[in-house]
Parts: sequence; structure tokens; C-alpha cells
Amino acid sequence: MSEILKIQNVRKYFGKFAAVDDISFSLKEGGIYLLVGPNGCGKTTLVNCITGIFKPEEGKIFYRGKDITGWEMYKIARQGLVRTFQIASPFLSLTTLENMLVALPDNAGENIFYSLIKRSWLDSEVSAVRRAAELLRILGLRHVWNMPARTLSGGELKLLEIGRALMSGGETILLDEPVGSIDPKLCHQIFNHVLRLRDELGITFLVIEHRLEVAAQYADHVFAMDMGKLVCEGTAEEVFEDPRVVTSYLGE
Ligand SMILES: Nc1ncnc2c1ncn2[C@@H]1O[C@H](COP(=O)(O)OP(=O)(O)O)[C@@H](O)[C@H]1O
Ligand SMILES: [Mg+2]
Repeated sequence: MSEILKIQNVRKYFGKFAAVDDISFSLKEGGIYLLVGPNGCGKTTLVNCITGIFKPEEGKIFYRGKDITGWEMYKIARQGLVRTFQIASPFLSLTTLENMLVALPDNAGENIFYSLIKRSWLDSEVSAVRRAAELLRILGLRHVWNMPARTLSGGELKLLEIGRALMSGGETILLDEPVGSIDPKLCHQIFNHVLRLRDELGITFLVIEHRLEVAAQYADHVFAMDMGKLVCEGTAEEVFEDPRVVTSYLGE
């Protein structure tokens, strides 16, 4: 597996307070990574630095060897590094398939219905529909392809959100607390589809999840943060037995 994302000595300050304090790590292509840590430890701020919402004061971020530090969000997304919430929320009156198609970047997506009648666009639209159908299959959403998004369950909407991130060209997906209010059963369902996307399409995932117990079994590698710093990393067992991680959670 080759390195896909590299974070090098990243610092992000709010005033004098370093919310992200000298973080370095790297992700390999096709890995499922978990970033854990108590509330307020800087997980979302780090994700915001990676995806271009914040510009870190110090450090560098490389995606596929390219220095993307300080790039604008849309440019980073175009490289294939996408955070799900950067994709607008589903259009509830559109069907599942239509929601996938409008997530296409720029040209084709915006005018998909119009462009369908144009002969010259036909080939690219047909391949877009094929791609969407393939993703819906892997996500287990084929049976709802023609249903308005408003009729989908909470779990199905989350899966649709991931599908739209992939449709937009995402190859590395950042999920910030993807299962926040979702019950553990649905959470397992979502992670099982994350595994399938990795196995079948080689997608890389960085998942931020506060509840260690539900996500640990799916991760290849876990990073633990506390007070802006990376306190340890390793397999789920290694990290969860680390006294520094135990202490940071107990102190919450
Ligand atoms: N836009 C902001 N302005 C000032 N402080 C912020 C901002 N965003 C986050 N913080 C602070 O930075 C710290 C880390 O927050 P955050 O990254 O949201 O943590 P987490 O996602 O791990 O819960 C917290 O102390 C939070 O209050
Ligand atoms: Mg957060």
C-alpha cells in the first residue's frame, strides 16, 4: 500500500491556543483509519485543516505526494480528498439515483437532465448512471434507487451521503462522527459498507468517531488525540490499552 495522505507537524491556533498541536501521521491507500479522542481535543479542527476549511499556521499536508497545504476546499476535493459534509445534503424530493447524479463534479452533474437529450452527452451520462448503479449496489441502496430521498432511513441517508462523495470523485473519504446519533446496529451496517467500499474500490477512509467501542473493530489503524496532540497510534487493542488514552477519556 502506498502513502496517500501525509500530515507533517501541523499546528492550528485559535488566538494563542493550539487546538491542533504539532500533529504528524500518514495514511496508506486503501486503509481504514480511526481518529479518536475526547470532546474538544481537536479532531474536527484537524479535519478542517486537512480539507482546506482552515489553513494551519504551521506544518504541511501532502496528498498523493502533492503539497496541498492552504489550498482551497474545492481544489482539495477535486484531488479526490473529500469530507462528506462538503457535499451538500441530499435533495429530499429527488430520488436516490438522481441525488447520486447531481453530485457529479461541475459540467455533467448540473445539467444532467437537460444534457440527457443531447446526443453528444449521452455516453458520459450513461457511464455516470453505470457508476451510480455500481455504487448503489455496494452501498446496499439498490432497492431504493427510485425512491425520493425523503423516504430513506437515517442510516440509508448516511450511506447516500458517502455514495455522493464517491460520485463526486472522492477517493479518500473523511467522515467526521458519521454515526453521531445513530444506534449501534445502524452504525455496524454503515461500517460494513465502508469495508466493502475499501475492499471493492480501494477507497481510503479516515473516520472520526467518539464512541470507541462501536468503531474499533473496523479500523486497520487508530490514532488517539488528546488536547491537540497525537498521544498514541497503533491497532485498536494497542491504543485502547494505552494508559494515556484511558486517562484522557476518564478525565472527560
Ligand atoms: N472556530 C473556532 N474558534 C475558536 N475555537 C475553536 C474553534 N473551533 C474549535 N475551537 C476549539 O478548539 C478545540 C478543539 O475543538 P474541536 O476540533 O471541535 O474538537 P473535537 O472535534 O475533538 O471535539 C476546542 O477547545 C474548541 O473549543
Ligand atoms: Mg468534532
